[in-house]
Amino acid sequence: MLVRLVPLLTLLTVLPFSSAATDGALFTSSVTYCEPPETLLIQQFDVKYFSANQSIFFDISAASVQANVNVSANILVNVYGLTLLNVTIDLCDILAGALCPLPQYNFVGSQSISLPDSLGVTNRIPAIAFRIPDLEAYAQLTLLEVGTGDIKACVQATLSNGWSTRQAAVQWATGALALFALLAAAWQSTRPNAVVPYRLLDLLHFYQTIAATGLLSLNYPSLYRAFAINFAWALGLISSTNSRLQTSIDNMRALTGGDMANASSGSAVGFVDRRLSPWNAVNLELPASSFAQSLLADTSVGAARTNITFSRIALNGIQQLATTEGQVQTVTDDSSNVLQAGIPIYVNSIHIATANAFMTTFLISLIIVAIALAVAGLAYGALFAANRFGWGTEETRQRLKSSYPAHMRAWALRLGLIVHPPLTIFAFYQWSLKDSWLSVLLSVIAFLAIWLSVLYPVFLTLRLVRRESRDALEFNPEHLASHGPLYAQYRTPRYYFFLPLLIGVFIKAIVIAAGEGSGMAQVVVFLIVELAVVIAHIVLKPYNSRGGDVFSTYLAIVRLVCTGAMIAFVESVGVAAIPRVAIGAVITVIFSIAVLILAINVFLHSGITWLWRHRRSPSRQGSADESMLEKGDANPIDGTADDTSRYSATPSMLSRTIGASTPHHDTAASRRVSISSTTHH
Ligand SMILES: *[C@@H]1O[C@H](CO)[C@@H](O)[C@H](O)[C@H]1NC(C)=O
Ligand SMILES: *[C@@H]1O[C@H](CO)[C@@H](O)[C@H](O)[C@H]1NC(C)=O
Ligand SMILES: *[C@@H]1O[C@H](CO)[C@@H](O)[C@H](O)[C@H]1NC(C)=O
Ligand SMILES: *[C@@H]1O[C@H](CO)[C@@H](O)[C@H](O)[C@H]1NC(C)=O
Ligand SMILES: *[C@@H]1O[C@H](CO)[C@@H](O)[C@H](O)[C@H]1NC(C)=O
Repeated sequence: MLVRLVPLLTLLTVLPFSSAATDGALFTSSVTYCEPPETLLIQQFDVKYFSANQSIFFDISAASVQANVNVSANILVNVYGLTLLNVTIDLCDILAGALCPLPQYNFVGSQSISLPDSLGVTNRIPAIAFRIPDLEAYAQLTLLEVGTGDIKACVQATLSNGWSTRQAAVQWATGALALFALLAAAWQSTRPNAVVPYRLLDLLHFYQTIAATGLLSLNYPSLYRAFAINFAWALGLISSTNSRLQTSIDNMRALTGGDMANASSGSAVGFVDRRLSPWNAVNLELPASSFAQSLLADTSVGAARTNITFSRIALNGIQQLATTEGQVQTVTDDSSNVLQAGIPIYVNSIHIATANAFMTTFLISLIIVAIALAVAGLAYGALFAANRFGWGTEETRQRLKSSYPAHMRAWALRLGLIVHPPLTIFAFYQWSLKDSWLSVLLSVIAFLAIWLSVLYPVFLTLRLVRRESRDALEFNPEHLASHGPLYAQYRTPRYYFFLPLLIGVFIKAIVIAAGEGSGMAQVVVFLIVELAVVIAHIVLKPYNSRGGDVFSTYLAIVRLVCTGAMIAFVESVGVAAIPRVAIGAVITVIFSIAVLILAINVFLHSGITWLWRHRRSPSRQGSADESMLEKGDANPIDGTADDTSRYSATPSMLSRTIGASTPHHDTAASRRVSISSTTHH
């Protein structure tokens, strides 16, 4: 049961659209001035429409501060690049000229208004607007001076319905899966042929791939960007509003010559370049609907009837409003606070300033390294205590003690392989920024350290092959145990398969940092890299088992297909917003399914199936397995034999369909002798 249930639960959490959201509401998610404010000053602008009771709630704090101006108001509503509403009303023509000239008012109001049924607003807003995740819509109010046509005020607000593909539940589920894989890998890594340690790397690299697809200079649909942000934690980008880590990095940058903007505490969507989703400002026009006229006329009459406090503005009130640096900022095409596509939008969406991206990843990596060192220290302490107090059998103690250094080196290598992609990407990116010199210095150090930690084992492996032979990789137990994470999952003749993958990471990192602003070039290079990886998989068939080949090729093809589909997001290709959203949704689903299959694969290899199968069908083989389990760590040679029968006997359809790899059949693998047994003898 368990094995069937767990993936099902994961499906429910990994697939988006699953979490509850506000029921049938539309609200403003960000407000910005699109021109420096002159006539209209806004401190707060929250408007919410409830479809259930057809009511509008607003909480607005605004003031009109210029005397004697006659204006006309233009209201524009843009949904997925389509102009749904574009009406201009001369304010002198409505409300019997009460707004002509524009009165100087300090408007502070918070109220719920029921819209009359006669307006039929519900019928006019398609139901999908309340359900589609990451709705791309904004409303713009422009006040134009009558006569001169000068823009007196321009305010933009993005609309949201509360649904998003970015879900805390997905982040926690993917994180929990990684943690599970880590624990299973730690438990199994003492065995020579354990699969989970490799799957742990596959899983995290796949998360990182998904996250990194959101870092290109593309016009992503908001839906896809939000999905990719679910995996930002795998790149070490962990943050929250006003987090202390970010404040410290801000201070550090400010003290070391960094002058780039800090992250805003509010939503980053207001700062997104207007050409990109969700603004889609340059697009098709639709004829304005006459519905807008009636709506406006009716609601303004309705608003006048409700109990709103209009207070004639006091002079000091005007000054206070004008000088307060409110949360509402001016974002124009050429203002410096505009967020460009790629890393700036991605990281600012999680409240990390563009220039803080590297430092965030770096500090999170340092924390992980510190935890790893602490665990290694604890393990050493436990070994020491076992020796001192004579816990366990002499044999076990000797075995654990002699394998400890190789184990630690293997885990150090795994750690290096996990953190090197994000550190490389953001180190390159930091160099392209010219911000704080300390960030740059640290990024150089981190870059050298991480590549040294990965390349030194690569060097040792290649040297061993040159000095002795490829078979030495299998028969040198010391080397296999400490540097195995690089190559042990591949067939001996294909031991070098880690090289294309490392080169791919390097090229992608360069392209993300250096190709900023040219999305087409980035996608094409990504596509070439992914294509090369797929071809390498098909031609070289590097894995020990057919299942391993199928599985890894499947993941490579998923990456290739999704990268290819991203050509639709290139700005110059000019795909309209709705098809882009559809393509984004398809990529989201393909990636989600792949994560799910990875999850199932991890579970199948983690030993859970083993427990489950044993309980279902106790057999002679089963009791042998059980006794092995009770001993905790089996004699590796016997363990290999048991493993073989265990995996091959698993009748699960899943393991066949998703190609759960079974390296145990392979001769090269079974030839391997674990370090523990050889050093012991
Ligand atoms: C604004 O319009 C009102 C009524 O039409 C008119 O009396 C007033 O002179 C106008 N003010 C300006 C500055 O044009
Ligand atoms: C809205 O309408 C005005 C004229 O009424 C036109 O100048 C403007 O370009 C329109 N804007 C959009 C985005 O359709
Ligand atoms: C409409 O319903 C929402 C919640 O569903 C509630 O917060 C709001 O006060 C209601 N408005 C009116 C006017 O009843
Ligand atoms: C960023 O924040 C730091 C510390 O709060 C501050 O010293 C610095 O001036 C800020 N930088 C910018 C560009 O606002
Ligand atoms: C308007 O609000 C005031 C207090 O803010 C209240 O005393 C008054 O009764 C309200 N009037 C109506 C018509 O709701």
